[in-house]
Parts: sequence; structure tokens; C-alpha cells
Amino acid sequence: MTSTKGMKIGILTAGGDCPGLNAAIRGVGKTAALKYGMEVYGFSSGYLGLVNGEFKKLSVRDLSGILTVGGTILGTSREKPFKHDEYNNYVQSKPEQIKENYNNLGLDCVVCIGGNGTMKTASKLYEAGINTIGIPKTIDNDVWGTDVTFGFDSAVNIATEAIDRVHSTANSHKRIMVVEVMGHQAGWLTLFSGVAGGGDVILIPEIPFKREIIKNYILRRYDEGKPYSIVVVAEGIKIPLKKTENKRHISAGAYISDLIQSDTGLETRETILGYIQRGGSPSPADRILATELGAHAAQMISEGKFGEMAAIHNRKLISLPLSEVAGKLKLVPDDYPLIQHARSLDTCFGAKL
Ligand code: F6P
Repeated sequence: MTSTKGMKIGILTAGGDCPGLNAAIRGVGKTAALKYGMEVYGFSSGYLGLVNGEFKKLSVRDLSGILTVGGTILGTSREKPFKHDEYNNYVQSKPEQIKENYNNLGLDCVVCIGGNGTMKTASKLYEAGINTIGIPKTIDNDVWGTDVTFGFDSAVNIATEAIDRVHSTANSHKRIMVVEVMGHQAGWLTLFSGVAGGGDVILIPEIPFKREIIKNYILRRYDEGKPYSIVVVAEGIKIPLKKTENKRHISAGAYISDLIQSDTGLETRETILGYIQRGGSPSPADRILATELGAHAAQMISEGKFGEMAAIHNRKLISLPLSEVAGKLKLVPDDYPLIQHARSLDTCFGAKL
């Protein structure tokens, strides 16, 4: 093994935040410093810090006491340095600025902690000659190449608790309660929290729904003496938009709630969970996953495995080329066993079996 002492590494967190980011920063940073003798630098606000050269040297002391803390001590942004901007014609391009900052600081690698967009940028930076390593995170669990991302388990816990609480008020008022869950274009968070929270109807982007099926199911429950139902709906389900409407301003939860009320005549209310799903302290499972992926990423640096993403597959830590991950989404497959099992318990997915 080549000597790692004195190697300089950067760490950044990019994209939407999630519980476990600090645990991952601590995992990479402490392992890099304590086990491999590397110097650790934290870049602020995702790729923005790399473009603008905004960084701070992180001591082991800086990395202590952050395992359980939500958010990210480095800050984050959705900056995409390879996206062209209006100034590109006459100022230095952002990737060139990144290269200059990387070389000036004498970095050996940048660890990019983020979701799909972050992995794509990390892959492009590697192609442009910068050593990068990716660590996947997101409450959406939609990063291709890893079985699970940290942030997901915490968000499942938060959303499940919210669904549990909605149950009692739904029962008191005999109402239909719609709970909208995040997840971008993937249904993982909705499926897991929906099943864990005992949702009666679960709607995910991967399974196109038919309103007739939802209506008949809720009315059948009503006829069977169950006057309340819980509907868990993913923010990313496809809803028909008028030409003047913008998807960002139309809530899937409100749309489904209106639909159910007008189709069934039953009183319906919606709750949009929103950003509370991303906030607060990570669950123990996320703390462990983030710590392991962080430590694994530091080991990958020591082995020169650049241009790769740390991942977990069949409970084993692995790595795979960022170029294989870039541009792909991990969606819920139709034949996913949890869907089949929930269906056999009479959970409705808004579609025929
Ligand atoms: O990717 C995580 C996520 O929270 C998605 O579930 C959600 O669609 C999106 O980020 C919200 O993004 P923003 O933080 O830009 O509002």
C-alpha cells in the first residue's frame, strides 16, 4: 500500500439534505485523519464551495459531537457546475474554477456525499481529471447501485409516525385521510411508510392509478363498516395538469383528496408531510450506514479507488464506477415483494392486480 500520510482530501455534501450527513462526514473525516493520517478539508454549500474555493480545514475535534446531529455542518446546495450559465462565454467555466481550486489546495481527492445529481457531477469531475469518490444519501432511496441510502430509514420512521397519528384523528371523525409523502419520482418512501403505517391505499409513481379502483375500494370499506381510510400518496405520482399549471404548485395529496371526496362523497382531508421528513437526528440504522460508508470511502481513497461510489449490496460494503451510476434512477420494480405481500393483505395500490 502506498503511504497515505499527508494526503489531502476534501468533503462536500450536495443536493437536498437528509439525516445522516454529519455521521457520514464524521465517518470519512475521522477515518481519513486517524487511520490514514490524511488532512481533511470541508467545502461549504456543495459544489458551490468547490467552485468558489470556500473551505475549512477540519480537525478531529471539528468532527466530534456531530454523529447525532441533523442537517450538514458543511451546508449544501443544488449547484450543478456543468450546467452552462449565461457567463460561460467570457469567464472561466465552473469546472475550470474547480480544477484550479483543487490544484491550488493540492487535493488528492474530493468525497462527494449526495444523491443522483451529485453522483453525476462527481462522475463528470472524475472524467475531467479530478479524483472523486461518491457516497450515496437521500431520503428518496433512489440512487442506483446501492441497496439503500442513508436518510431513508429516518424518513420512513418520521412518515410512519405521522401516519400512525393520522389514524386516530381519521377514526374520530370517520374521515378519509390522505398523507402526502416525499420521494421525488420514486415510491420507496411512500411504500415503506405506507405499509409500516398500515395505509389502506398506497399510491406510488411506479404504479399508474385508476380513480375508479380507489373509489370502489374506499366505498367497499365503508360498506364493510370501516368509515375511515388512510391513503398514503407519493408526491411524484403522475397527475393530469392543465396547460397553465405547474407541477411544483400542485400537491399530489390535495389532488387525490379532491378526487376521493368528489368520487365517494366522503369527507376527506389531506396532510402534506414536507420537509419534516428530512429534518432532525438520524435513526440508529442511518447512523450506522453513514458511518460505515464514510469509513469505507476513506479506505477507497487509501486504495486509489477514484471515480467510484461507495455502496452497500447484500449487507456488504462495495464500490462501483460512478460512470455506471450516473444518470440512472432506482425505482420500485412492479414485482417488488413488499407490494405483492401488501396486496395479499388487501392494500389497494390504485391498480388491478
Ligand atoms: O431528494 C430529496 C427531496 O427531499 C425529495 O424527496 C423532494 O422532492 C426534493 O428533495 C425537494 O427538494 P428541495 O429541497 O429542492 O425543495
